[in-house]
Amino acid sequence: MTENLIIFKARVVTPVGFAACCGKQMGELRIIDNATVEVTDGIISYVGPSRGENRDGYYQRYWHYNARGKCLLPGFVDSHTHFVFGGERAEEFSWRLKGESYMSIMERGGGIVSTVKATRGCNFIQLRSKAEGFLKRMSAMGITTVEGKSGYGLDKDTELLQLKVMRSLNADEHKRVDIVPTFLGAHAVPDEYRGRTDEYLDFIIGKVLPHVAKDGLAEFCDVFCEQGVFSVEQSRRLLLAAREYGLRLKLHADEIVPLGGAELAAELAAVSADHLLHASDEGIRAMKESGTVATLLPLTAFALKENYARGREMIDAGCAVALATDLNPGSCFSGSIPLTFALACIYMRLTIEEAITALTLNGAAALNRADSIGSIEVGKKGDFVVLDTNNYHFLPYYVGMNCVSATIKEGVIYPGA
Ligand code: NIG
Ligand code: FE
Repeated sequence: MTENLIIFKARVVTPVGFAACCGKQMGELRIIDNATVEVTDGIISYVGPSRGENRDGYYQRYWHYNARGKCLLPGFVDSHTHFVFGGERAEEFSWRLKGESYMSIMERGGGIVSTVKATRGCNFIQLRSKAEGFLKRMSAMGITTVEGKSGYGLDKDTELLQLKVMRSLNADEHKRVDIVPTFLGAHAVPDEYRGRTDEYLDFIIGKVLPHVAKDGLAEFCDVFCEQGVFSVEQSRRLLLAAREYGLRLKLHADEIVPLGGAELAAELAAVSADHLLHASDEGIRAMKESGTVATLLPLTAFALKENYARGREMIDAGCAVALATDLNPGSCFSGSIPLTFALACIYMRLTIEEAITALTLNGAAALNRADSIGSIEVGKKGDFVVLDTNNYHFLPYYVGMNCVSATIKEGVIYPGA
């Protein structure tokens, strides 16, 4: 659904451009006070000073929104989530509180594989309605585009089912959030292939990927490139095959140990490398050179009690950094945008302006959409966040609290929290 909408008297706060912002550019926001923004058929058609009320009856064909005293930002883009899954892992969380590590739980058959069991036990409707609940909460926090991954099926039917759930949610006429689907068949090795990782990859490449590509079910292919999961060599093999099928590439890279995932992402010109808690100096340099977006997920580091990724250093090195939530039932059962802002600014030392760019334009770039979303500019989608304050510093300052008063999707206004 799209609408005609005029927003009056807004304080517009936006990054600028149709590609990722790198390095210190990330801190350069455009701020326009008392601005008018016009959206025609869901697309931004004007941004600037007021053009006068009721010009030629033109404004009568538009909804009106008075944003006096509020900030208007581009809709947030959450470029890394796993929001389609069955079951939950609250018990596992309690084990982690007692000191057990994420990887040791995974090694003894818990972790991702336990969500796989629960997901395989769900039908389409069950998966869809649970995922739809997450989308409503995302919208209330200002998200207008989200990426979602498969990876909890690890067999052909369930992997395709997860992607079909996303396709169905994306086709909903009243959707509040656009969904970008990613195939993550190489998220873990399922029990039936235990100890036979290469054979599992043969299966994914030979039997699942062709269907994903033929039916256009995913735009990206991702892999959990990690010690004890998929090696650099195995990840490269999968990603090269995915590229042959026309998919763009992402990696879970250097999350738990420094394995060289960032370097691999750069070598393959992946669109993004994600997590990067242990990315090496060389990996950071390589990502800058290849233009790979460094997608950082501070909620995961927080929930796993790990050190945060070196966001400040990555920006200082000239990288394009994006922020995302990583919402998933295991390592990070949170999709909190307010907390993401706070952690990124407090612990990763991003400035508030950089964090805004990271959750808007650079998130869009991490999804290959910087030409159509991520900033408030003519020609882009009319996707916005309205803050209930004229001071955008509230985003990290109001720690973990939602200051979104409305989310606007292609000109349609939805209430915030
Ligand atoms: O991004 N690390 C791999 N994948 C997810 C966790 C998935 C899960 O624990 O269920 C992540 O952290
Ligand atoms: Fe993830």
